[in-house]
Amino acid sequence: MNANAQMNDAILQVDHLSMKFGGLVAIGDLSFTARRGEITALIGPNGAGKTTVFNCITGFYKPSEGMITLNRADGSSYLLERLPNHEIPARAKVARTFQNIRLFSGMTLLENLLVAQHNKLMKASGYTILGLFGFSGYRKASAESVELAKHWLEKADLVDRADDPAGDLPYGAQRRLEIARAMCTGPELLCLDEPAAGLNPKESAALNELLMGIKHTTGTSILLIEHDMSVVMQISDHVVVLEYGRKISDGNPQSVRTDPRVIAAYLGVDDEEVETVLTEVGDEDVIEQLDIGPDSAHGPGTSSSYLAGPVSDTVGHSQGERVTVSKGASKAAQVDARGASVASRPVAPTPAPAKPAAKKAAPRKTAAKAPAAKAEGVSNRLAAPRGGKADNLTRIKGIGTVNEKKLNEHGIFHFDQIGAWKKADVEAVEAYLAFDGRIAREEWVKQAKLLGQGKDTEFSRRVDAGKVATSHVSGKAKASTAKPVQGKRGGGK
Ligand SMILES: Nc1ncnc2c1ncn2[C@@H]1O[C@H](COP(=O)(O)OP(=O)(O)OP(=O)(O)O)[C@@H](O)[C@H]1O
Ligand SMILES: [Mg+2]
Repeated sequence: MNANAQMNDAILQVDHLSMKFGGLVAIGDLSFTARRGEITALIGPNGAGKTTVFNCITGFYKPSEGMITLNRADGSSYLLERLPNHEIPARAKVARTFQNIRLFSGMTLLENLLVAQHNKLMKASGYTILGLFGFSGYRKASAESVELAKHWLEKADLVDRADDPAGDLPYGAQRRLEIARAMCTGPELLCLDEPAAGLNPKESAALNELLMGIKHTTGTSILLIEHDMSVVMQISDHVVVLEYGRKISDGNPQSVRTDPRVIAAYLGVDDEEVETVLTEVGDEDVIEQLDIGPDSAHGPGTSSSYLAGPVSDTVGHSQGERVTVSKGASKAAQVDARGASVASRPVAPTPAPAKPAAKKAAPRKTAAKAPAAKAEGVSNRLAAPRGGKADNLTRIKGIGTVNEKKLNEHGIFHFDQIGAWKKADVEAVEAYLAFDGRIAREEWVKQAKLLGQGKDTEFSRRVDAGKVATSHVSGKAKASTAKPVQGKRGGGK
């Protein structure tokens, strides 16, 4: 295949994308390609930067650096970072759904799908009231819009509920309605942010069917953020894995699943334990890969994106036998450090440190330790976790390991602390995390109250069952960690 053909094959080309929020590097020098007609999954632990990538693609954020090229089927190309964001759906034909469902809950299903076609209808009206009443072009467009809406209601298995308010639908059906709505805009690239979150197995299967239907019967390519590995492994053609905003693996589902860097990133064990746990994983492929070092065929080598750039959550240089890794460096970086160490090992045995990775602690400068805005406003900070043991805050939906660390750094370790937050506390923490209403929207306080009382939430159950990649091993999850990154557990913790 020549270079041109390859270009056309790529519906989306992300080149050296970086997104910084003050001192925090949410995405660092990320490059990947999504191929036309395929489902490309973007996975990674909470806070890895997945939604930020979507926000850059869909024009919600203007990236700090990098290029995002959308190649349409008619041969035209668009640099999305330069396109005004309202033109991205209309001209570049990119549609998205959100991590938190955003439907017009008081409108019927049909109305939701018609609103999505508002631009087309306004154009057909000639932007005049006369157009609305008499214009045959408008009547035709209006009839077509209803037909299209019905078509997608059928595909999403929602036609029986067409006249019900969207807010009355069960959760899984609302997710499908969002996708149907996005499809009514006729996208060439459909970006879905965690469409399977919160779905039961039946709803998850219905979602898979809908997505496979889109892949096989429309020309739409799909970019999918998903934590549920059963969805990722079943339907993706290609998987890109992020950790701390850096790409750590890129390939087909099978190669990613057995990539030691991915396993390490998702295991979230203590630094000293990385090597041990990787061995415990017991997957011969993994151990073999680990022994020969990183496989450049399906992931970045040490020269590429995730070790380059300003985030010094990185591996020190290989100095003969000694490899130094910042304490707390990303797990993936530690695996690569070990790979590099093995690769550079001289034939004649020389004394090697028992644990090449993670021993030589250097001050950590990571995304997680971005210079903090003031969190002093939080009323119930503690100097240290009670009894020396913090709760696993990643059991709260919306808190990933990155944010958990930030919270710990500011004296928040326990569910009951979060459960006791008042409005002023929430505002202080939102200012610190630069979260803009997310804590209230995701109901952290409500979730924390329940978890603090020893109850489970739907999300915490998924975390405990290893279905959510949080890069954190909870007590419960640890007990069931036999074979991570496989099937249901895949990418698990
Ligand atoms: N507007 C913003 N201002 C400041 N920081 C932000 C902003 N948006 C995201 N971040 C930070 O960027 C990092 C990546 O966030 P992002 O939401 O992209 O992660 P994610 O991979 O989608 O996580 P999750 O799986 O929890 O949805 C986080 O540390 C987050 O706090
Ligand atoms: Mg997200």
